[in-house]
Amino acid sequence: RALGINIEVAGEEAAQKVKIGLYFATWWALNVVFNIYNKKVLNVFPYPWLTSTLSLAAGSLIMLISWATTLAHVPTVNLDFWKALFPVAVAHTIGHVAATVSMSKVAVSFTHIIKSGEPAFSVLVSRFLLGEAFPMPVYLSLMPIIGGCALAAVTELNFNMIGFMGAMISNLAFVFRNIFSKKGMKGMSVSGMNYYACLSMMSLLILTPFAIAVEGPKVWAAGWQTAVSQIGPNFVWWVAAQSVFYHLYNQISPLTFSIGNTMKRISVIISSILIFHTPVQPVNALGAAIAILGTFLYSQLPFLLHHALFALSLCIIIFL
Ligand code: 3PG
Repeated sequence: RALGINIEVAGEEAAQKVKIGLYFATWWALNVVFNIYNKKVLNVFPYPWLTSTLSLAAGSLIMLISWATTLAHVPTVNLDFWKALFPVAVAHTIGHVAATVSMSKVAVSFTHIIKSGEPAFSVLVSRFLLGEAFPMPVYLSLMPIIGGCALAAVTELNFNMIGFMGAMISNLAFVFRNIFSKKGMKGMSVSGMNYYACLSMMSLLILTPFAIAVEGPKVWAAGWQTAVSQIGPNFVWWVAAQSVFYHLYNQISPLTFSIGNTMKRISVIISSILIFHTPVQPVNALGAAIAILGTFLYSQLPFLLHHALFALSLCIIIFL
């Protein structure tokens, strides 16, 4: 009987692991598709302000339809909710458009190598702007992240300052998005899919006038014609894919700096290098690997520290 229960528990654990594995694999796959189509579109239609607006518009439309067809329940929101959401939406908008501008100027892999440095921004902002102190290993784990990103940047063959700064600004903005979200949204009843829906809608309202001011319908119309003449009618599906997949992958975002997010960046970096035949120098790849290893160490720090402490205690006990 005990054996039977053990087998049942083991079976349940295995099923749970498969479920988690599928969940992560879906997240990474959706993210890869978004990044590939986003870059395919930007290569022939270099208007990142419009493509990032369209991603938010697609998400807003999908959610409006889901609410209208009762596929998702309509959230009850009041003015306080929208007020608290505003700074989150501003940061989300800046982070999103800055990343897209970056990808319009440099290789997707380069944007994501720099974006793998987001944990360093989080620690530095928390330390210097919020006065939060961290244990020494946290600061030490930033060294490979910052050093690796710097090495990857200086050895990047197609370096572009706007591309680099876009990814850096996106990192900073997303750190603030997390801070505002954690502080301002505490206790609010809207979460998950509906929270992201409201965020997309507010960001869309914020971004649209800026997109029109920076690029504008005239430029878009001419650019669209050129893109369709190069790619054919399928171009519209590329735009649709990048817009819809942006919303889809953002439905699955567990912990921002989790190991899952690092693996997500690795999937995007490798697949985009293969698909777009991005030239990579060995020293450039080394920089990326160091940065990603640093992010990995950072995300695993509590776990690693726990184990190191356990090993240390064991050594002391044996020694005594
Ligand atoms: C965007 O366009 O918003 C960024 O590419 C998102 O970056 P993420 O990988 O951090 O979601």
